Amino acid sequence: MYAKTFGETVCGINGEEIIVEVDISNGLPGFDIVGLPDTAVKESRERVRASLKNSGLMFPMTRITVNLAPADLRKDGSSLDLPIAVGILTAAGSLLQEEAEGKIFVGELALDGSIRQVAGVLPMILYAREHGWREIYIPQGNAAEGELVDGIDVYTPASLSELVSHLKKRERLTPLPKIQFGTGTAGCGDVDFAEVRGQQVVKRALEIAAAGGHNVLMVGAPGSGKTMLARRLPTILPPMTEDEILEITKIYSIAGLLNGKKQLVLERPFRSPHHTVSASALIGGGSVPKPGEVTLSHNGVLFLDELPEFSRQALEVLRQPLEDGVVTISRVQASLSFPARLILITAQNPCPCGFLGDKVHSCTCRPHEIERYRRKISGPLLDRIDIQVTVPRLEYDDLKDKTEGESSAVIRSRVVKARGVQRKRFEGSGVHCNAQMNKKQLNKYCKLEPQAEAMLGKYFAALGLSARTHDRIVKVARTIADLEGSAAIKAAHIAEAIQLRTSVQR
Ligand SMILES: Nc1ncnc2c1ncn2[C@@H]1O[C@H](COP(=O)(O)OP(=O)(O)O)[C@@H](O)[C@H]1O
Ligand SMILES: [Mg+2]
Ligand SMILES: [Zn+2]
Repeated sequence: MYAKTFGETVCGINGEEIIVEVDISNGLPGFDIVGLPDTAVKESRERVRASLKNSGLMFPMTRITVNLAPADLRKDGSSLDLPIAVGILTAAGSLLQEEAEGKIFVGELALDGSIRQVAGVLPMILYAREHGWREIYIPQGNAAEGELVDGIDVYTPASLSELVSHLKKRERLTPLPKIQFGTGTAGCGDVDFAEVRGQQVVKRALEIAAAGGHNVLMVGAPGSGKTMLARRLPTILPPMTEDEILEITKIYSIAGLLNGKKQLVLERPFRSPHHTVSASALIGGGSVPKPGEVTLSHNGVLFLDELPEFSRQALEVLRQPLEDGVVTISRVQASLSFPARLILITAQNPCPCGFLGDKVHSCTCRPHEIERYRRKISGPLLDRIDIQVTVPRLEYDDLKDKTEGESSAVIRSRVVKARGVQRKRFEGSGVHCNAQMNKKQLNKYCKLEPQAEAMLGKYFAALGLSARTHDRIVKVARTIADLEGSAAIKAAHIAEAIQLRTSVQR
């Protein structure tokens, strides 16, 4: 006897349909799964067998063959347990084919027949809705993801036997209610720029970075406040839109990072991987590619603290996603891309001992040590960092100053305004902010006033800037003008942009 059911797997950040065919024929008892299953699917055999038995359902003592199609798609994880179990029950006659029809099943089975949470459910539900499915069955542990998508009935049976009762219409389950989530929440935990004393120049640099989506390097002695400042960048970015929330939640769903209370990513991500992170953990990878840190930072901030401590390889692989806003992972079978549109914030000491240029402490490093330390960050990576600032150590007066700095909310309102100008400017072009402009857009939108042009020309020659650096300065100047509500790029905007790019000694 033959039955067909449907499950899903995740490919990149999208769901993909899997057809589960089950054939039961006479012969020696046996249970095979074919169709390129990885080890997880093989283990599924044992889980399906035990869960059927322990649910009081029949496990046919004949020859069972399960085929997962399409054969060339790699199937990952344990989410296919449920459609396999339903398929066996249908082929064995315990369920009627029409009782299993028109439904997608997703879930891992525990040996006692209960249905366990799996990763990647949100993209699967989105896929099912997009392709006209009316019903999807997911684990209870993934219920919060099910509540996000309307236009499809999402059911969350606790166990295999509960599912069978429902399908046989003995005891019906009710589909999940849908929640409205609107826009995201601002901020990142409970930190605020108001807590930062002094550091006006760096705060201004971060405001410009947030407004135009520019990457930042902060150079300063230990304790100067680099980490404190970086952590507050997400608090001045605009709240995420509904689409941004769904997009990033999908990514966290695939990475298996949604659990407990955190079922919906409402705050912009802030990721700060340790400097021992591997290149593949940074950009994503694995035999079934999983999103890396750059993708987990999508729509948010990636903070690399102690930049020179990262492996050269890790820093090299960052270049492509920083340039393109997506990361492409090549595999033998196919290449996948994950989104990676983020603001990169990096921090480092000025030298190995950390005190080069300090007013009080003296640097104990030898020149060649300083040289080697700096060379660790390659030119091409630095080229992609539009804003490079020095973080001075706080003066005693600043530290003792009890007046609160500007709050994140106030700074954010300016950022939101500047982003609004950019949204109109780039409407329909796929570009979101000034930092992402291509050459053509740069020429079109960044006309310099004559004085500004003259000033840039003078510095360009005097500082020996590269063409790339030139373009980055113009982009930052565009953002500074946008913050001011100025259509034209004036000399003052160019002057500040030059400062922000050239004040760190190299
Ligand atoms: N501008 C500042 N205003 C208030 N506190 C600060 C400031 N700069 C540094 N601090 C204090 O010093 C601590 C160390 O700063 P941190 O950000 O870790 O420095 P760094 O990362 O540069 O080594 C912070 O946790 C904070 O308490
Ligand atoms: Mg630090
Ligand atoms: Zn030193």
